Amino acid sequence: MKLKTLKTAAKEIKLQDKTVLLRVDYNVPVDNGRVSDDTRITESLPTIEFLLKKGAKIIILTHLGRPKGVDENLRLNPIADHLSKLLKKPVIKVDSCIGPAVETAIDALHKGDILILENTRFHKEEEENDPEFAKKLAGYADLYVSDAFGTVHRAHASTEGVAHYLPSFAGFLIEKEIKNLEPLLKKPKKPFVLVIGGAKIDTKIGILENFIHKADSILIGGGLANTFLAAKGFDVGASLCEKDKIETAQKIMLEAEKTKCNLMLPEDVIVADQISNNAAIADAEITGVEGDMQILDIGKRSVVKFIEILNKAKTVIWNGPVGLYEKKAFERGTKEIALCLADCKADTYLGGGDTLDAIKGLGINEKSYTHVSTGGGAMLEFLEGKELPGIKVLMG
Ligand code: 3PG
Repeated sequence: MKLKTLKTAAKEIKLQDKTVLLRVDYNVPVDNGRVSDDTRITESLPTIEFLLKKGAKIIILTHLGRPKGVDENLRLNPIADHLSKLLKKPVIKVDSCIGPAVETAIDALHKGDILILENTRFHKEEEENDPEFAKKLAGYADLYVSDAFGTVHRAHASTEGVAHYLPSFAGFLIEKEIKNLEPLLKKPKKPFVLVIGGAKIDTKIGILENFIHKADSILIGGGLANTFLAAKGFDVGASLCEKDKIETAQKIMLEAEKTKCNLMLPEDVIVADQISNNAAIADAEITGVEGDMQILDIGKRSVVKFIEILNKAKTVIWNGPVGLYEKKAFERGTKEIALCLADCKADTYLGGGDTLDAIKGLGINEKSYTHVSTGGGAMLEFLEGKELPGIKVLMG
């Protein structure tokens, strides 16, 4: 089975005047009615431009956020405006993704037109992967192209269901993501290091379990590290810590011992009594955390140790900041790692919304890294080696 790509589509089907249902992942941050990070939008432009050049009519589908029913704050108007600016052409927008208004707008489309339908998640049938809903969406087009890498781990009507009713192909972004990430599942160059941060262990268990057998070192920071530190018996004070995941953390550490994977936790940390710019901030040994102290970054010595390992690596995957990077006082660990990976000789693979937000905030060019994935959960699940529904359905 091989991925059916847009290039294959162009060979098999004359795209001129065809209506293409294009699923993208424009689940992007929107602040005060403006898109504040358009990476996922710009990354979908090669596919859109290709379809436009071929003379297709494009109907764009995406979700935004996690609404339960219609949510006025999660309408796609700011995204349609932004896309229109990027493409320098009008993008028609309708206020639903099914129904008579959609049908009228589709009937009026000419080749080279772009129509964006409303947030797919305004309909509960989307997440339920309801076949009737999927069939309705499919009925609007001649073929389906998915470029929504960030959402391929979701079996929803617009990411999976619809592909059962139309000839379906992967856009250039999905193709690029798979081409870049797949080698990591096979034989990454060694030493191979995984840097994992962020708040919660749940979404990271799969990747930890998978890479414990492959990585030479796993460096753990962020809130995630606190759960591991607690599992080792350290007092983490008032820090974010998932007490119900302590056993999971213990199992992962035991497995790392067996596979001789160097699982590193911070040995010193930056603590504060509150998350604010007026907080009392201090460096602390990991043995010195107690009471109302909150661990909010890895400490200076830990930064040095992490960087030492990264400088010797040939392949690095990084997902999740190692501290509360949004506040200047706690950005150091994340900043040093970001700068080190931007400069080092290793092949570097980054993913996760917060990681990308951190490098953007630091003004580092994404091109400084081998591959910056548009997937958060999708990248993690891909790297767990799982079969992802939104990709499986594009194979043939
Ligand atoms: C993401 O931002 O990771 C994707 O758009 C998927 O969003 P979801 O986690 O709400 O399904």
